[in-house]
Amino acid sequence: MNSRKLGLTDLYLTEVGFGAWAIGGGDWSFGWGPQNDEEAVAAMRRAFELGVNWIDTAAIYGLGHSEELVAKAFEGHRDEIIIATKCSQVWDDKGLISSRLTADSVRRECEASLKRLNTDYIDLYQIHWPTDDEHIEEGWKTIARLIEDGKVRCGGVSNFNIFQLARAQKVHPIASLQPPYSMLRRKVEDAEFVYCRQNDIGIIAYSPMQSGLLTGKFDMKRVARNDWRRKSNEFKEPNLHINQEFAGRLWNIALKYDKTPAQLAIAWTLRLDFVTAAIVGARRPSQIEETVGGAGWRIDKSDLRLIDELLEERNKKIKVAGGYIP
Ligand SMILES: NC(=O)c1ccc[n+]([C@@H]2O[C@H](COP(=O)([O-])OP(=O)(O)OC[C@H]3O[C@@H](n4cnc5c(N)ncnc54)[C@H](OP(=O)(O)O)[C@@H]3O)[C@@H](O)[C@H]2O)c1
Repeated sequence: MNSRKLGLTDLYLTEVGFGAWAIGGGDWSFGWGPQNDEEAVAAMRRAFELGVNWIDTAAIYGLGHSEELVAKAFEGHRDEIIIATKCSQVWDDKGLISSRLTADSVRRECEASLKRLNTDYIDLYQIHWPTDDEHIEEGWKTIARLIEDGKVRCGGVSNFNIFQLARAQKVHPIASLQPPYSMLRRKVEDAEFVYCRQNDIGIIAYSPMQSGLLTGKFDMKRVARNDWRRKSNEFKEPNLHINQEFAGRLWNIALKYDKTPAQLAIAWTLRLDFVTAAIVGARRPSQIEETVGGAGWRIDKSDLRLIDELLEERNKKIKVAGGYIP
């Protein structure tokens, strides 16, 4: 699979990375419903066999469970896989989540992640959310110290706007921004992408298939009661139908290339050379077997225009999204 250099770092990421949020399971505020651990491990190993060289997880995914599964999947192969994880979202005994970026909290989180991941270094350590605004500089400085200590190779941020990026960049160079980016979520194109290009910050796009909506196969009947998607505006009526109609119309374009809408949606995020990679979530091997086909090909300009036209139609109908995606 093609790789792209991550910003100023010496890391080369394959165009598709494995997103390990959903495999964290269902038993927390932003879970995806029941998830079989064996299938989750098999999905990550299959991704690796298919050439995917990196995994994106977070301490908060499954309240530590996703990181434990990553460790299980790559036991004995640690140095062959690039592991990206995240801090800032902490939870208490009752599973209540809050944001914390104080130095002691970030250090504590890093030690806990290293333990769960069964490793002595993290390749890319990211601030998950900038919501503890007061402590952004302190948290980021702590990640810079963790790099000096050899516990972390590179530091990145996620969900930062341009002002927050500028604040962090003053303290220590940012390796990567992890923003939401899909056909349905293009807000970062205006300012954050420009800033990243100017400062050689890598971009790793999350939810490229809008958490399953853009696969052209999404069916709400399969979604568990405790799946976070039930709380998201994109997945609620009338938006759900509008989005599904849009995804259904992608089939015609995808089939021209012998591809599926899921693969088209991923290739669409990768059409920009300065987007380093797409983080693609999967819950079982068959899903990643399909979605690795999002890498390594280009959508013609005429079809990109057609997608824009379809999006314009969709955007006129949609109700403004107010859903929260962690
Ligand atoms: N930094 C952040 O705040 C943040 C936020 C969101 C995501 N992320 C990262 O980005 C990764 C990817 O995002 P995401 O998981 O939200 O969205 P995504 O990659 O757009 O969609 C993944 C979901 O789509 C469905 N799917 C995957 N392959 C499929 C296939 N071949 N056919 C049909 N359905 C398929 C699966 O859900 P079902 O089978 O259940 O439908 C899967 O969990 C996450 O795992 C996480 O690492 C980060």
